[in-house]
Amino acid sequence: MLILGIETSCDDTATAVVRDGREVLSSVSTNQDAFHAKYGGIVPEIASRQHAALLTAAIEDALQRAAVSLAEVDGVAVTYGPGLIGSLVVGVAAAKALAYAIDRPLFAVNHLHGHVFAAFLDRSDAPAYPFLALLVSGGHSQLVNVRGPCDMQIIGRTRDDAAGEAFDKTARLLGLPFPGGPAIDALAQQGSPRALTFPRYRPEPGSLDLSFSGLKTSVRYFLESAAGATANKADVAASFSQAVVDTLIDRLDRARSREQFTTAVLSGGVAANSMLQRAFGAWGERTGVRTIVPPPKYCTDNAAMIAAAAFWQRDTVRAEALGLVADPHAPFDIGTALRK
Ligand code: KG4
Ligand code: ZN
Repeated sequence: MLILGIETSCDDTATAVVRDGREVLSSVSTNQDAFHAKYGGIVPEIASRQHAALLTAAIEDALQRAAVSLAEVDGVAVTYGPGLIGSLVVGVAAAKALAYAIDRPLFAVNHLHGHVFAAFLDRSDAPAYPFLALLVSGGHSQLVNVRGPCDMQIIGRTRDDAAGEAFDKTARLLGLPFPGGPAIDALAQQGSPRALTFPRYRPEPGSLDLSFSGLKTSVRYFLESAAGATANKADVAASFSQAVVDTLIDRLDRARSREQFTTAVLSGGVAANSMLQRAFGAWGERTGVRTIVPPPKYCTDNAAMIAAAAFWQRDTVRAEALGLVADPHAPFDIGTALRK
């Protein structure tokens, strides 16, 4: 089954063709960072205009690279939420029109489910259910218990900033460019993660929730202090990164004492972080849990993961070609989404 995927929930205009939820025939993503960088964050209006300008060519590009004609496509998958409303409607409108025109099924995919299914792309050793997914990106930070393709539950979430948001905001404090994650990652290589002590958020016992705003504020106060004025920025970047990593690893440990799983997946843009990748791998060795980190191109927002999710969830997420509406607050639970 060949599925054409479309993802425009935030600032990446992404399209892909995926066979049977695993084999990526093409995955195209036009990064808009250059348009947003000077504002220090994503400007929703610019993002939706860029999607409108780029999407048609991106769809053609994905089909061409996959050497697949529209007539060969068996279904169209689109992210219908959560995300920026202006961005989502561009992808949803295109997917509806396309599915209707070629008379193929339309699949409405939750963006977060897409990140989970990134773990199935281009690999023979896809995770077996149940598994744990740690999704960390600019817009979300969640621990998900994945019992089956349509049976997933969020068991931990951020109470304020997402992990990537913490990287982006801290980078701005350090005078680094947007997006801040890669910039902090690079700077941290030259610093010591133990040079400074920043707080690690610990919720009440048993809770798997996250919080990063206190950490960001603590970095800000430090930088405004006399010691901060002369501190080595690489040490700040490394020590901040270590605090994020320690917090996430603590939640993985807590999840292990609460839930049954033998495999854990790390996905989302922050999964590209080198310190986090090393710590995640070491955690797997310490605990005996098999760890999977998709390649960076499938960790950041992409359409291949959306096409994959549609394949595995195909009986449940089929939508009316003309009835689908974008939902910026799309519920994570498929049951809730269907009852709406
Ligand atoms: O998944 P993604 O591309 O988009 C969202 O859905 O948000 O994630 C983007 C986020 C940004 O906050 C970016 O700073 C962060 O991922 N990021 C990183 C790294 N690469 C990207 N954070 C830490 N270290 C990195 N190497
Ligand atoms: Zn995402």
